[in-house]
Amino acid sequence: MAEYHEISPNAPAGAKLLNWVDNRFPASKLYKEHLSEYYAPKNFNFWYFFGSLAMLVLVIQIVTGIFLVMHYKPDAALAFGSVEYIMRDVPWGWLIRYMHSTGASAFFVVVYLHMFRGLIYGSYRKPRELVWVFGCAIFLALMAEAFMGYLLPWGQMSYWGAQVIVNLFAAVPFVGPDLALLIRGDYVVGDATLNRFFSFHVIAVPLVLLGLVVAHIIALHEVGSNNPDGVEIKGPNAPKDANGHPLDGIPFHPYYTVHDIFGVGMFLMVFTAVIFFAPEFGGYFLEYNNFIPADPLKTPLHIAPVWYFTPFYSMLRAITSEMMYALMACVLGGAFLGAVKAKLPSFIKAGIVGAAAVVVVLMLLIDAKFWGVVAMGGAVVILFFLPWLDNSPVKSIRYRPSWHKYLYAVFVVNFLVLGYLGVQPPSPIGERVSQVGTLFYFGFFLLMPWWSRLGTPKPVPDRVTFAAH
Ligand code: HEM
Repeated sequence: MAEYHEISPNAPAGAKLLNWVDNRFPASKLYKEHLSEYYAPKNFNFWYFFGSLAMLVLVIQIVTGIFLVMHYKPDAALAFGSVEYIMRDVPWGWLIRYMHSTGASAFFVVVYLHMFRGLIYGSYRKPRELVWVFGCAIFLALMAEAFMGYLLPWGQMSYWGAQVIVNLFAAVPFVGPDLALLIRGDYVVGDATLNRFFSFHVIAVPLVLLGLVVAHIIALHEVGSNNPDGVEIKGPNAPKDANGHPLDGIPFHPYYTVHDIFGVGMFLMVFTAVIFFAPEFGGYFLEYNNFIPADPLKTPLHIAPVWYFTPFYSMLRAITSEMMYALMACVLGGAFLGAVKAKLPSFIKAGIVGAAAVVVVLMLLIDAKFWGVVAMGGAVVILFFLPWLDNSPVKSIRYRPSWHKYLYAVFVVNFLVLGYLGVQPPSPIGERVSQVGTLFYFGFFLLMPWWSRLGTPKPVPDRVTFAAH
């Protein structure tokens, strides 16, 4: 138990109250540890806005979600109508709904930028591996949350999108059809599916998300923030003042609270502009087909997921039976390199070759559709391993060989092209491009242990680089 602090009977009432609370709950201690005495590097830039913005969007989604649930009806016969009722009859209902639907897209914009910052500044590297791993789990939960939320308006895209994605689980060998049945709760997407997705979207996944965000921040505050230079400000050799505070750090409050409020202001200008002037955002945030009630007897001509899923959807579509041969060649080539080049004991090398042979046999036996699902899932799962794939001697892109910057630029362009192709109807040329894009995406990560070591890094300074503005 913490020591009990007495306070003078003449102290102001506020101080007495705080002392009473502090003797029972670590309010001042938490405030100091996480705000007024949390030292953050003084060289944060634009890229450091997105963590606090992600928290803001999370709050917006929860608050608007609570109000939507007051009027929404999770029933296949009533859902579509209840959303129209919210839009037309509930006072300010249109605003609440547009805030929530625009919030979903904003969440992904913010989180993709937040993840990209981690990638370029090596924020996932020791000692921040768990910050990153919690982040990847947040990303997975966010995808599940968005996917299930999209079924709720019970429009054509809600219905057919869910149909396509749930059917993918049926491609899993042996358990697939039962798994798909379990997810749907019926033989087709229907009322049972709507009810379980509602329950997951409204309570189960948000609880997980909140827990993960708390874990993410606790892990971050345990090790301290990285910064654009990738220089540790709190390490044993980092310069500190007489009180032991890092010379390159500034207290989070008030410096970064003010900084983040500026970011919030800029964000809200864009966010409200979209809500008031382009809430459907040309069909990208709210698809036009979703303004038509779900009709199980009428498949839309072109079913495309919302933009934030499309890079992964492209990878799913890229895995055709023809593509399987290219993948088999990659598996065999990788195993060959491992067996010939790597300095490993011979029994491990034999294991690698054996495992590759088993994988190739499985690839021949199981339908390409299943491997498409593996590629789509693997594209997210591989992110978890990033801290252990990167072997570069320096963290930040600033001090890496210049060509690394071009490689990251190609990675971004490739991801955008995959995203673009994912909204387009399938075409022979699109299929080829997305196949090359998929190989590049996985090659970027799987070959990272090798390419990240190449080239001569630039000298890393001892202190962060900072010019007062
Ligand atoms: C709901 C979603 C998320 C929230 C609310 C959130 C919140 C935050 C906050 C407030 C920070 C500190 C401020 C900053 O560095 O910007 C942070 C840092 C960080 N986040 Fe997230 N985050 C989320 C998702 C993610 C995801 C999906 C990833 C990666 C897969 C991730 C990886 C990181 C990393 C590596 C840092 C440390 C960055 C550094 O110190 O340079 N976060 N996050």
